[in-house]
Amino acid sequence: MHSSVSESLPLGVWGAAGQRPVASSSPSAVLHAVPPSRAQDGTVELAIVIPTFNEAGNFEELIRRLERALEGISWEAVFVDDDSPDGTAAGLHALSARHPRIRCLRRVGRRGLSSACVEGMLATGAPWLAVMDADLQHDEGLLPAMLQVMRQGETDLVVGTRYMAGAGVGNWEPSRQRISALATRLSQRLLGLSLRDPMSGFFMIRRSAFEASVYRLSSMGFKILVDLVVSSPRPLRVHELPYRFRDRHAGQSKLDNRVAWDYLMLLADKTIGRWVPTRLVSFAAVGSLGVVVHLLALCLLMGLPGNSFVSAQSCAVALAMVGNFMLNNALTYRDQRLSGWGWWTGLLKFVAACSVGAAANVGVASYLHHGSAHWLWSGLAGILVGTVWNYGATAYLVWIKPKRVA
Ligand code: GDD
Ligand code: MN
Repeated sequence: MHSSVSESLPLGVWGAAGQRPVASSSPSAVLHAVPPSRAQDGTVELAIVIPTFNEAGNFEELIRRLERALEGISWEAVFVDDDSPDGTAAGLHALSARHPRIRCLRRVGRRGLSSACVEGMLATGAPWLAVMDADLQHDEGLLPAMLQVMRQGETDLVVGTRYMAGAGVGNWEPSRQRISALATRLSQRLLGLSLRDPMSGFFMIRRSAFEASVYRLSSMGFKILVDLVVSSPRPLRVHELPYRFRDRHAGQSKLDNRVAWDYLMLLADKTIGRWVPTRLVSFAAVGSLGVVVHLLALCLLMGLPGNSFVSAQSCAVALAMVGNFMLNNALTYRDQRLSGWGWWTGLLKFVAACSVGAAANVGVASYLHHGSAHWLWSGLAGILVGTVWNYGATAYLVWIKPKRVA
């Protein structure tokens, strides 16, 4: 819950900030003629962690630009690729064999921007760690200025921000601007962040500050900066620098509706996560949506001529159960998503487990009501017991955790 934002120094102070490198006319010449990355004493001062998923059309140009922007700095780039189908990891590995500044960590059977950044940061010993996108949206010309702030020793975190004088969000659709502003306000209100751009994916952090937070990180979803700042055990000394968010160079954004859900779950984890598991919050939220689906279906079916209440209610129950199963499979258990035959057996087990949950719900509520509890409290207690049962039983029977190595 900690952040203190110092006033930003003007960009011109360090010269290099804001200077956009010019695209090279002979790309491979630049890539091949690179001097060894390590400084003479063998240390790397700055590691740039770059998460990638399907960025084959971008990484070469990014490396070329980093070389130009970081001249005179001892740096390395740690790409973390989640087994992109477009062969990003293979391309990076080929490059790393002849380019000592480049490393690529390939993860298999995994997805996630935040967890990729965390693992990339853990894979380097550099004292300063930057995170940026691979698609050239983040201005690499800002990195020397960020490092200069760090070297002065008073700062733990430098954030590239799109919301201050001299900055901008580029060609964003108004809808994306609104969503970003809403997400920013949510983190400011709920988590007490005073950052201007907590949604930024472009920042530099002192290694010791990262290491102090590492055990508390949620590593969920896209918003690694929010996660880092809130997980810090002590207030971070933050400095913000402006930059203009550019258009994506090649390929497509991975930002989708699930990213919004992941963000809400990150907020839940950072606020009530100490007491309630995030998956249970997600499961309960899906369950509440199921009630809405149920009532809507009931309302529609009751409007049909000749339909009895019992048949309408039965159809609504079935619809809500299937809907809940699908949403939980897509959101709550995205990392363990069932497909093919497993989807069908999962659905059957889900329906069986939730039927027992429904019986427990009615049983507990009736018992309390008989004991003269108010109908509202009896009903809520039934819902609580039913939800916890459904969550526990389906976690055990349907979305079985992969076995851990002891
Ligand atoms: N390893 C890995 N795994 N990398 C991923 C994954 C993943 O599951 N999903 C996305 N990435 C990589 C992309 O390849 C890209 O390099 C970077 O993470 C950001 O993804 P984009 O798809 O380009 O997202 P965006 O541009 O819409 O949003 C980014 O910029 C915003 C503004 O700074 C993100 O960094 C947002 O968090 C940020 O708010
Ligand atoms: Mn991007």
